[in-house]
Amino acid sequence: MTEPRIAPTADVDPSAKIGEDSAVWHLAQVREGAVLGEGCILGRGSYVGPGVRIGDRVKLQNYALVYEPAVLEDGVFIGPAAVLTNDVYPRSTDVDGALKRDGDWTAAGVVVREGASVGARAVVVAGRTIGRHALVAAGAVVTRDVPDFALVAGVPARRMGWVGRAGVPLEQVSPGRWRCPAKGELYTEDDGVLSGPYTASDGQAGQSPTDKDTTP
Ligand SMILES: CC(C)(COP(=O)(O)OP(=O)(O)OC[C@H]1O[C@@H](n2cnc3c(N)ncnc32)[C@H](O)[C@@H]1OP(=O)(O)O)[C@@H](O)C(=O)NCCC(=O)NCCS
Repeated sequence: MTEPRIAPTADVDPSAKIGEDSAVWHLAQVREGAVLGEGCILGRGSYVGPGVRIGDRVKLQNYALVYEPAVLEDGVFIGPAAVLTNDVYPRSTDVDGALKRDGDWTAAGVVVREGASVGARAVVVAGRTIGRHALVAAGAVVTRDVPDFALVAGVPARRMGWVGRAGVPLEQVSPGRWRCPAKGELYTEDDGVLSGPYTASDGQAGQSPTDKDTTP
């Protein structure tokens, strides 16, 4: 394990915690009280809002913006210029023209579950949850919660398929059964919910998941 590497031009608040083996690149900003796990990479110009919680091995690509009070679980990928927003009905001022300040509005954070990815320049509307290992396509606008393993695209984002843990679109092998072409892992679909993965040696898919639910 090594101390985090923080570029001289990065702006990391003294109260923020950066885990071992993490790297914070030039012009990135990490605000007060944010917590970053181990082995993370914050790309150039990325932003982490006050109190945001980020797990281990998370990547924020260049200019990704993560507004508080977002939560990013282990292994999450946020693509370049993606934005995780926190206010559904934003206003700078109240009706009297006075500037709104913290406490004058309620922030709703985005939650990105373990292993999920958000593509380049995608926007996630405040308060939405991206499920485990889901993949949000480049340029999508996520307005509804995204199920585990869902591949969503478009404006507003709609499900266009399933992806496995490897991030590759799954292939349907029979009704309700899906297979990852990269890893051979098997998944079952029931009523719009994908479960798994199961290895071929598990026999009947649905009995022995190899991927544990890490929802806190
Ligand atoms: C969504 C994605 C995974 C689909 O990849 P794919 O499985 O190879 O799909 P294809 O390119 O064959 O496209 C399939 C269909 O989806 C459409 N599509 C692909 N990407 C799309 C996107 N980002 N938004 C909307 N539609 C998209 C294609 O136009 C095509 O539509 P058609 O069948 O009507 O022609 C991929 O395009 C993508 O956006 N990946 C994220 C890239 C990214 O942001 N990386 C960040 C690191 S730089």
